Amino acid sequence: MYKVLIVDDESSILKVFKQALNKHFRVDTAESGEAGLDMINKQGPYGVVISDIRMPGMDGLQFISQAKRVAPEIEFIILTGYADREVITKAVKELMVSRILVKPCDAKTLIHEAQEAMKRYEKKVSKEDAKNPTLRLVESIVTELKEGRLIMPVLPQIVQELQNVIKKPKTTNDDLAMVIEKDAVVSFRLITVAGSYIYRGRKKIRTVKEAIPRLGSKETLSIVMTITNKQFYAIKNNRLKHLREKLWLHSLCCAYGAKAVAQRLDLEDLEKFFLMGLIHDIGKVLILKVLDDEASADKNIDMQDLINSIQEAHTSLGGVLLRHWRFPKEFISVTTLHEDPTAFPHVAKSVLVIHIANILTRKIGYSLFEEDVDLGSLEAAKRLNISEESLEVIGQELVALMHEAAAAF
Ligand SMILES: [Fe+2]
Ligand SMILES: [Fe+2]
Repeated sequence: MYKVLIVDDESSILKVFKQALNKHFRVDTAESGEAGLDMINKQGPYGVVISDIRMPGMDGLQFISQAKRVAPEIEFIILTGYADREVITKAVKELMVSRILVKPCDAKTLIHEAQEAMKRYEKKVSKEDAKNPTLRLVESIVTELKEGRLIMPVLPQIVQELQNVIKKPKTTNDDLAMVIEKDAVVSFRLITVAGSYIYRGRKKIRTVKEAIPRLGSKETLSIVMTITNKQFYAIKNNRLKHLREKLWLHSLCCAYGAKAVAQRLDLEDLEKFFLMGLIHDIGKVLILKVLDDEASADKNIDMQDLINSIQEAHTSLGGVLLRHWRFPKEFISVTTLHEDPTAFPHVAKSVLVIHIANILTRKIGYSLFEEDVDLGSLEAAKRLNISEESLEVIGQELVALMHEAAAAF
């Protein structure tokens, strides 16, 4: 039999409700949102949770939103006083709580609503049973991000400012330097990278102002984006770090690969392709970042299931994030369509380029998936008219470049 949990700070209510429901369900009680969360984590699964709204400490809405992350299938019933209209709207709209009971509530109504909620729960879990916990966790994260119940990360300040500076018709190196120098960590990394093997010139670079003319403004922007992108990959959870590292190298490799393919095709604005490669899988990183904050992530995650489920969700989620960050349309297309672009007859060249670069990374061991792809049979390569031999050469060059690049950043 599935259990019911009642959360209320008034012990008299807990007592009365427990008595009423005891004949029909196994009932537990908790005197605060915090205690309720603890019960869900340790004593679950619960089918139905009945929660008060006004409680000291964590209130009912905070409790439900956190509980949903751990156990999204729970049916919640809210108990509230008459005056909580705003709260009710929020609960219905954002947390999708479908039953609100107004205090005082008679035993008959309570039992009826709990039984109905339990039926809905049973229906849900019989469907969900086929899925594993990792998949369910990732699915709930993706839904919450898309529906705005989880806050999207902000675009780093420096990237925002650089985009504004670059949009201006007459951007000088000094304008660029002024923005970059505001961020000491990025400035320091830029100088180091500019002085490293792949970008090395004759003279030692000591300042941002010296680095920019040496690299050119577009290349400077690429490097700054790469540095901030790597910062975006920062996570704490040790179990996720290995995956994070692989993903980061994959993105970097895809960036260089895209630039090389675009160069081979004589396309303009090579740095744009580099940036597209860099962010094409940003949806995956976003899921890892949310998981990283998830207390339940550690014990519930199976790595292979995680890789499969982020693969499934990352393209549309990446699109949502880039739209939120107001990236140009072409970048959004790349993020959402790069996995299977040939399914669309009129897809932009850049999407095909990123697709090919992405496949190349699999062949040379810079991907979460290893695959000996037959480059000659790639539909995207045929559409772009790039030969198998050219792709083989680019792949070999990428291996050499990645040795240097991975160490530089
Ligand atoms: Fe991808
Ligand atoms: Fe990828």
